[in-house]
Amino acid sequence: SFLGIDIGTSGLRALLVSDSGEALGTAEQGYTTSHPHSGWSEQDPAVWIAALEGAVAQLRDRHAAFAQLRGIGVAGHMHGAVLLDADDKVLRPCILWNDSRSHAEARALDARPEFRAISGNIVFPGFTAPKLEWLRKHEPDIFARTAKVLLPAAFLNLYLTGDHVADMSDSAGTSWLDVAGRDWSDVLLKNSHMRVDQMPRLVEGSAEAGVLRRCISQKWGLAGRVSVAGGAGDNAAAACGLGTLQEGQGFVSLGTSGVVLLARDRFCPAPQNALHTFCHAVPDRWYQMGVMLSAADSLTWLSSITGVSPKALTTALGPKIKAPGPVAFFPYLSGERTPHNDAAIRAGFIGIGKDSSRENLTQAVLEGVCFGLRDSFEAIAATGARYDKLYAIGGGSASSYWLSLLATVLKTPLHVPEGREFGAALGAARLGMTAALGIPVMDVMRPAPTAQVIKPVEGLIDAFDAAYTAFRAGYPILKSHPRA
Ligand code: XUL
Repeated sequence: SFLGIDIGTSGLRALLVSDSGEALGTAEQGYTTSHPHSGWSEQDPAVWIAALEGAVAQLRDRHAAFAQLRGIGVAGHMHGAVLLDADDKVLRPCILWNDSRSHAEARALDARPEFRAISGNIVFPGFTAPKLEWLRKHEPDIFARTAKVLLPAAFLNLYLTGDHVADMSDSAGTSWLDVAGRDWSDVLLKNSHMRVDQMPRLVEGSAEAGVLRRCISQKWGLAGRVSVAGGAGDNAAAACGLGTLQEGQGFVSLGTSGVVLLARDRFCPAPQNALHTFCHAVPDRWYQMGVMLSAADSLTWLSSITGVSPKALTTALGPKIKAPGPVAFFPYLSGERTPHNDAAIRAGFIGIGKDSSRENLTQAVLEGVCFGLRDSFEAIAATGARYDKLYAIGGGSASSYWLSLLATVLKTPLHVPEGREFGAALGAARLGMTAALGIPVMDVMRPAPTAQVIKPVEGLIDAFDAAYTAFRAGYPILKSHPRA
């Protein structure tokens, strides 16, 4: 069997798959994020280890196949900085991807042309390099004692193998990687006061990173050799789980944050559109991604202030999508990445009248999120990327109203995959399988079967095109507000 581990923002999921790659069972362990100051977001790496051990204990109890474990892959939330001293002791809590304290340092690094030129990306405040710049100023003792900086997935690789080793897809989100050359960039490291000896060894996500340490395999009751793969950042892992590795394949995710991701067989960055261009978790592949920060999170917010569950809010709209409503919502509750790269912008409603109902607001939120995803989609399409087949995943995809709306706003059919609940953990398990068996990536990363195709509602495409044009005019209005 093979084990996929996904270190999520709110918890860890472990998925056990059979020798032929079928899901056998999952176990989840939640944890919390601390916010010691506004905009800060931290996790103690020890909680990921505790969650992993808890999840493994459950899987061992439930599945006899665990005893024949042969390979492990780890996926993680990206960009986080785990700082280790020379004895591999964790120096402070991990600063997460959604921590915005280093926005000034990010702006300063991003102003140096070599960062976008070599890393292919804007230096976003959540990325790793500006975090280290912040630490250099605000926690100089810790900065001076930092012998290694690991991303969350690489920290678990260290726990599992005893070696400092990271994969390309996750490392591409540090602002230290030469994303075309798939290697650490001496220039970028030097320009952000770092050294290459502070970086982990790099491997492809599907290659073997090391072997499970003896003390762990004994504790887990394993007899054979267990290979640990390089692993992946969570979005690359989700793509591996869906089998989206080739040009023309991709997915749209209605998760807490929203993602439009397309696989690329070339490196063709477009930082000017605030797109992310990262290495894929398999050799010679990249992917391009637009990220909106508040997707399903916008509905969660509406749910929290109305006291009505997200499910009840969406089902109240009925089964069939309506023409664009009178109220418009701009989904910038936590700022926006693609296409605006604006941490300070905030959300807004326009067009509320005395007769506006809760349903009008819900409809506006669902539409605003779809328009935000269309912004990302248009930004990727402008790079010349093909999209022959798009999967729809993420918590919000459970709403058939939202899916139908999204297909109509994007003007393209959406494939709901079988097994979508396994997400990045399935991709991680597939990386573990590839590394352990040494077989071709394409034999393992087969495209997920389509459970359902959601087609655009033809009669509403033009109306939503017009509503999208109006949506595009909203950002400058919000931006001009004195509070923005
Ligand atoms: C990607 C990003 C998020 C995190 C957390 O750039 O910041 O998707 O990986 O899931």
